[in-house]
Amino acid sequence: MSDQTQAKSLPRVLSGMRPTGKLHLGNYMGALANWVKLQDSNQYECYFFIADLHALTTDYADPSRIKLNTLDVALDWLAAGLDPEKSTVFIQSHVPQHAELHLLFSMITPLGWLERVPTYKEQLENIKGKDLTTYGFLGYPLLQAADILLYQAQFVPVGQDQIAHVELTREVARRFNSMYKTPVFPEPDVLLTPSPKLTGTDGRKMSKSYGNTIGLSESPQIAGKKILEMSTGGQRIRQDDPGDPDLCPVGDLHKAFSTSEIQAETQHGCRTATLRCEFCKLKAANSVRDVTWPIYLKRQELESRIDDTWEMLRAQSAKAAERAEQTMQSVRSILDLSRDLGAVRRYFGLADGDRRDPRDLSTNKNWWNLPSDQQEKLIQEYWSKNVLPRDIHLTREANRVFPTIRRELEEPFITTKKKRVLATIQTAVREPGGWHFRIPSKTYEVWVLLCWDEKYRLNDFVIPQKFYAQQFAQAKKASKDSDIHVLIWKLNGRWNLSFAPLQRQVGNANVSDAVDPIDITELLGKYDSLQ
Ligand code: TRP
Repeated sequence: MSDQTQAKSLPRVLSGMRPTGKLHLGNYMGALANWVKLQDSNQYECYFFIADLHALTTDYADPSRIKLNTLDVALDWLAAGLDPEKSTVFIQSHVPQHAELHLLFSMITPLGWLERVPTYKEQLENIKGKDLTTYGFLGYPLLQAADILLYQAQFVPVGQDQIAHVELTREVARRFNSMYKTPVFPEPDVLLTPSPKLTGTDGRKMSKSYGNTIGLSESPQIAGKKILEMSTGGQRIRQDDPGDPDLCPVGDLHKAFSTSEIQAETQHGCRTATLRCEFCKLKAANSVRDVTWPIYLKRQELESRIDDTWEMLRAQSAKAAERAEQTMQSVRSILDLSRDLGAVRRYFGLADGDRRDPRDLSTNKNWWNLPSDQQEKLIQEYWSKNVLPRDIHLTREANRVFPTIRRELEEPFITTKKKRVLATIQTAVREPGGWHFRIPSKTYEVWVLLCWDEKYRLNDFVIPQKFYAQQFAQAKKASKDSDIHVLIWKLNGRWNLSFAPLQRQVGNANVSDAVDPIDITELLGKYDSLQ
């Protein structure tokens, strides 16, 4: 299997970070280290991006450092082991589909959903000195939903604070899918990062806004000095007093960075007051250095040629945009925003002959990368808009001019002359010997069977009952379940239809031993039996 086909079958993971500049040890332990693990497990198709548009939701008044911070984050990611050969590493704003999907989601998202997200009110109250009573800030989690759903990601590795955002994402996915009766968006799950809490040098949570951080790619000398001056949580003022490493910021560093031996040794030394704090800190600094030294070196090297990193981000963003565009084509088509004229042509009385061969789907090759239900939905829609002759109206409900096939309903279409028509699309993976259809064992006046071949050509067989009635009756008798299995197969340029031998797995069916094939070559695209 090539890398690419393999990647397709893997579940997708997506996460992002706002560009707040160089990362600190808390960011590393809380997210990045875990991302690198996910990437290196080779179990996921990974997308990691820098959420520069999200940065603008709070920093719109001074955007002067967005690009610098974006690059700073990217350099730290690469230095820490994110690998563009294995993951797609990109910049959110370079993939304009994020903004497009966000806009479209804004149409269907009730205001109350956004007002109720807990981080909204919290930040509105806590972030001082910025006017956050803006539309963009309210929409922050909706932009995040667009980020995730654009790639139809199944897993989102984030910390506790992001759970509410992923929950909103699930709600938006559900609403879109049910509103338009198409399962475009899977509901993603949080992959909660198992992160040891990291305390900053002053004993508060490590955070840029407190100025108490230790940088991930900081030089070991500077990091070491900070650690030696670090708070011990007010403990062991006299070194003869024992301490509790669970209450000590240095203890947290050991838990995150030290080997279990060093952890055991320092914890014992602390509790028995046999190890002085400065030695304990020295050991913590060494443990941190063991992890960050290669990251520091790698970053130094990357900084000497930042153009390469920028070029990489641009190329990776273009690659992400290709995947994003697949989703957007489904979304635009559902919202009647697709780029082709499609069904509108028939309002102007234009015949099919005016356009290029309507059965040629080769310009829609990207449909073949989608999950089969979505792919079928697009092809069905395409068929009813572009292939079905415009003077034939198949209806289900009185006012529905353009039908879509809803397999689960198994409800026939009705023609103007009140004929009952089954229109169905090949559901299984293409069998080695032909295309396999499951057909409800009910009676219809006409079947329309759709399938496509290797050349992306749509084949539409319009088969009146008299062509298959006899074999159908036989198959119905033999059928144990309520479906009839039908194969279409091509041999020496002729198309044949046969009823699959039902006693056997259709996947193994050998078409040559099916009885009485019916030659349906001349029924290709012949819609007169519907009139
Ligand atoms: N809101 C996230 C944070 O502050 C960043 C983010 C933006 C994100 N879009 C995302 C995370 C999509 C995961 C998935 O950390």
